[in-house]
Amino acid sequence: MNILVTGGAGYIGSHTIIELAAAGHDVTVVDNLCNSCEKSLERVEGITGKKVPFYKVDIRDRAGLDKVFEENKIDCCIHFAGLKAVGESVSKPYEYYENNIGGTLVLIDAMRSHGCKNIIFSSSATVYGNPAQIPITEECPKGQCTNPYGQTKSMLEEILKDIQKADPEWNVVLLRYFNPIGAHKSGLIGEDPNGIPNNLMPYITQVAVGKREELGVFGNDYNTPDGTGVRDYIHVVDLANGHVRALEAISRSCGLKIYNLGTGHGYSVLDVVNAFEKANGVKIPYSIKPRRPGDIDSCYSDPEKAFKELGWKAKYGIEDMCRDSWNWQKNNPDGYRD
Ligand code: NAD
Ligand code: UFG
Repeated sequence: MNILVTGGAGYIGSHTIIELAAAGHDVTVVDNLCNSCEKSLERVEGITGKKVPFYKVDIRDRAGLDKVFEENKIDCCIHFAGLKAVGESVSKPYEYYENNIGGTLVLIDAMRSHGCKNIIFSSSATVYGNPAQIPITEECPKGQCTNPYGQTKSMLEEILKDIQKADPEWNVVLLRYFNPIGAHKSGLIGEDPNGIPNNLMPYITQVAVGKREELGVFGNDYNTPDGTGVRDYIHVVDLANGHVRALEAISRSCGLKIYNLGTGHGYSVLDVVNAFEKANGVKIPYSIKPRRPGDIDSCYSDPEKAFKELGWKAKYGIEDMCRDSWNWQKNNPDGYRD
């Protein structure tokens, strides 16, 4: 199939392009590079040996999108483009709603005008809020999102559901990601946050490479075995493969489908620190800090539905994730900036 990947220069998008190419799909990328750079795509081309047509276009730019659809016959859109920093979304709610919701509405309208009614959307486990049950199945009710970023994911899920209900020609797959970490085994592409990392693994790798002194562990009094927060970390290559499987569902005209993409295993912050040290032989100094507002005790998936319906299952374990995250960081201490 010919796939339009929005946000394809970013962390998950760049890894997904590689798996799409391996499965024989053709990819066109749209990205405004607000949180990424073109170098990731050059490296993807190096890995796949295949040219990736790239348009530096903002998804809010309707004329720009029309040109992309006019020049390429697109069968399906995998929609990663969006702003994703939870803390920033609290201080800049307008920018998050305008970019994520406004942008997606422009994209949907451009898609239908050009006869493309297939979309795979990057949603998040954040839509479950403080989950009513663990492990979390897709039937678990959506919860109260504590920040505008989470609200945009939850609202966009509802918008896409309504569009599919009104016009059953649409095929919509909502993928709820748990916590993606890791990197391609080549060490050529990976997560490249701007400034101080918000998320656990990029912070750990920056401590390991000497850019940060120590890791702050946000709270050790959670209701978990060691008191630190438990999450379902998933290797980004496994996550990328989930999109390839979702495309197969789209090609069978699946209508509306919702899947968790996680491993089903929960690891605490200290479990991740220990796994990183064991996998890489690098010490991670840390100290316990106060809880981070909005954090929850535990969040991990029941990934059975994606296995039963898509035949998808995560292959990589926590040590693989730690090894590959470190391989990327140590080979690219300044990310794509050197
Ligand atoms: P990322 O920031 O690395 O990639 C997103 C890309 O979208 C960037 O390249 C950015 O430049 C681009 N972009 C943003 N707004 C745009 C716009 N208006 N027009 C065109 N391009 C635009 O983030 P990622 O980690 O790869 O995440 C991809 C998607 O998955 C996002 O929608 C994110 O919310 C979602 N998600 C990520 C995580 C995670 O922990 N990384 C978890 C759940 C869901
Ligand atoms: N943590 C620390 N120190 C840090 C960073 C994180 O102790 O420096 C802890 C957090 O308190 C939490 C765990 O590590 O217990 C994981 O935190 P992350 O920030 O890496 O991930 P979150 O689970 O908070 O959120 C991430 C994304 C969200 C997404 C969610 C579910 O940031 O956008 O996963 O997919 F919605």
